[in-house]
Amino acid sequence: MRPHIPVLLDEVIQALAVKEGGRYIDGTLGAGGHAEAILRAAAPNGKLLGLDGDPEALAIARETLREFGERAILVRSNFNEIKNAAAAHHFIPADGVLLDLGLSSMQLANRARGFSFLSDSLDMRMDDRMELTALKIINEWDEQELADLIFEYGEERQSRKIARWIVANRPLKSAQELASVIERAVGRHGKIHPATKTFQALRIVVNNELENLELALPQLADVIGEGGRAAIITFHSLEDRIVKQFFKSNGQWRNLTKHPIKPTYQQTRENARARSAKLRVAQRL
Ligand SMILES: C[S@@+](CC[C@H](N)C(=O)[O-])C[C@H]1O[C@@H](n2cnc3c(N)ncnc32)[C@H](O)[C@@H]1O
Repeated sequence: MRPHIPVLLDEVIQALAVKEGGRYIDGTLGAGGHAEAILRAAAPNGKLLGLDGDPEALAIARETLREFGERAILVRSNFNEIKNAAAAHHFIPADGVLLDLGLSSMQLANRARGFSFLSDSLDMRMDDRMELTALKIINEWDEQELADLIFEYGEERQSRKIARWIVANRPLKSAQELASVIERAVGRHGKIHPATKTFQALRIVVNNELENLELALPQLADVIGEGGRAAIITFHSLEDRIVKQFFKSNGQWRNLTKHPIKPTYQQTRENARARSAKLRVAQRL
């Protein structure tokens, strides 16, 4: 079984209009599922440059993509450095770039990493070279800072109450403890765990997710050649808004998705992670 089911796989291959012999960059390699499909569609000579900040993801992708030999070049890099990485590996001009944002299933499943409500830790870094952890934020930031973070990046209306309960129950050592404090603070209504938005907020801040996206988008016009495509999959409204705005009002791009492409009912049944996915596509003019 795949460690991570790639979201909107056929749609991404179509969106990028992958062609034989093309050069593609996957800025969020993960387990390499999308990368593998791109390399197959670009056979026999097409190449792929894959980036990921997480060495565990790179190790898995290396196995997945072994059969492609030198057609796949995998590098540990933040995609906020996409232009430098592309230049260093002679991928300019590229025919297409994919960003499939967010977490992989391997990261979510690994209890030592702190991303899931069941985790024994509270780290949440996708790249362990970064300094800030969720543990530090939860135990060291003051109540007002916590409330602001939870409100701004989680769009959580009960942010103040949650921040108050966190501070009153410190120190918190694991994601499990944090999730349970939040559940006690706001109660449980419906299927969605009441800590979902707070966890999203922490992950965004720990990993500079919005800033990385804002840094990467303007670099794409220097990386992708004329007629090439950018395909970006987002998983929450904050990042989707950034992508939508960027392609809407930009003379270097033709927006190919007036409305984002979303998974079918069947796809969400087979892969719960796909539920909130939105794919936006643009063509370099
Ligand atoms: C949703 S997964 C990608 C899954 C992949 N498309 C597949 O088919 O397996 C996102 C990956 O992007 C990585 N990532 C997230 N933000 C990143 C960034 N700013 N720079 C580099 N990698 C990043 C994460 O470590 C994770 O492995």
